Amino acid sequence: MEKRGGWGSKMAFILAASGSAIGLGNIWRFPYQTGMNGGAAFVLIYIIAAFTVGLTLFLAEVSLGRATKRNPVGAFKEKRPKSPWFLVGILGVFTAVMILSYYAVIAGWTVGYSIKAIKGDFSKTLTKASVQKMFLSFSSNTGLNFLLLLIFISLTVIVVSFGIKGGIEKLTKILMPVLFIILVYLAIKSVSFEGASKGLLFYLKPDFSKINSKVVLYAITQAFFSLSLGMGTIMTYGSYLSDSDYLPSSALWVVSLDTFVAIMAGLIIFPTLFTVPGMSPAQGPSLVFVILPVVFSKISGGAIFGSLFFFLLLIAALTSTISLLEVPVAYLIDEKKWNRKKAALAVGLLSFLFGIPSIFANKPGNFFNDIPFIKKDFLSIMDFVWGNISLLVGGFFIAIFVGYIWKYNKALKEINKSGKIFKFGKLWGFFLRFILPPILFIIILSSLLIK
Ligand code: PFF
Repeated sequence: MEKRGGWGSKMAFILAASGSAIGLGNIWRFPYQTGMNGGAAFVLIYIIAAFTVGLTLFLAEVSLGRATKRNPVGAFKEKRPKSPWFLVGILGVFTAVMILSYYAVIAGWTVGYSIKAIKGDFSKTLTKASVQKMFLSFSSNTGLNFLLLLIFISLTVIVVSFGIKGGIEKLTKILMPVLFIILVYLAIKSVSFEGASKGLLFYLKPDFSKINSKVVLYAITQAFFSLSLGMGTIMTYGSYLSDSDYLPSSALWVVSLDTFVAIMAGLIIFPTLFTVPGMSPAQGPSLVFVILPVVFSKISGGAIFGSLFFFLLLIAALTSTISLLEVPVAYLIDEKKWNRKKAALAVGLLSFLFGIPSIFANKPGNFFNDIPFIKKDFLSIMDFVWGNISLLVGGFFIAIFVGYIWKYNKALKEINKSGKIFKFGKLWGFFLRFILPPILFIIILSSLLIK
């Protein structure tokens, strides 16, 4: 039987879990969600959601993962054998394959944009029309996107094949801190552009009248996606933790780092956005790929910073796709006794195949670009079903399971195993049992009704 492996240190878990959490969700999805949902009001609700609902569920997932030292399916099976609870794990495994399929398409864009930056495409003065044209011709180039998807999934398969210590840990330890430094540098630059104050106001001064149920719904959904919650990723990573690690501080670290990166991404995007005539913050998924080239065209050394930034975004996306692939791979290793390499290759291939329609989603006039009756493109549908609903449903059942079935006081015992007592244990248990389930239930229902 394959040896399971484990993290080299607590720091390694924090970095790897942050690697999973920090990715396109922070730098691509968070800014465009903020732009479409009222700016600062969304940011405020997002922060509250991440540190309440997000942190609570994060701790629930890690404790179940470490207590069982199993993949999500195995974890439910161990705590409640011969019951249907393992299906929550199966949903997580399936969700991972599906998110990986479309996430890798957008991750492929970071490869393409790194090359564009190296070629000097962002060194000329860029207007609204030119950046939009550049994005459209790039994202609708099917052949190129096919190749980029293949490259990205292959990279993910290679790292996951090397296992927990050899692959994931080594990569994140070096590259995540570099990403943080670059983000802060670019944020400082963007904030100091002439005319940046308008963007700063939009991003940081909340207009409370903009807070409505939709904003709350999207903020909580974004927190789930960004923190990799609801499908067993954090549970799987938690399963490689040692009993001596104090879980609450790790959880707080990951949630804080993830939120920090999202906030920085917005600080880069919005001040610059308002300096480009005619540019709207509510333009949706293309936002970052349209605004960042403008940032790089305005700073000295833009070609170097541009290539470095997109390369680091590529790495951030890769540490997330690795965590997505790790869920089904851990399942196949633990439950089906496959070896790691075979599992990584098989699931990678599956995700690649499911990813192909998402490539066509960006080609105007294509079936997958405007699906009849639904009137949406394939990638948006995948993101809604798997990146929103499925994570919320998974999160709802994980909260019920840890709170009521495995029982929150047993989870607390697991949390306190390191010897250090979790001071907010009671509050955490209260949130897990009485706040999360009703909130998530309402959010799932209203997401389905709003769409
Ligand atoms: N959290 C990742 C991001 O923000 O880019 C995306 C993600 C990874 C979602 C892993 C879900 C997951 F299980």
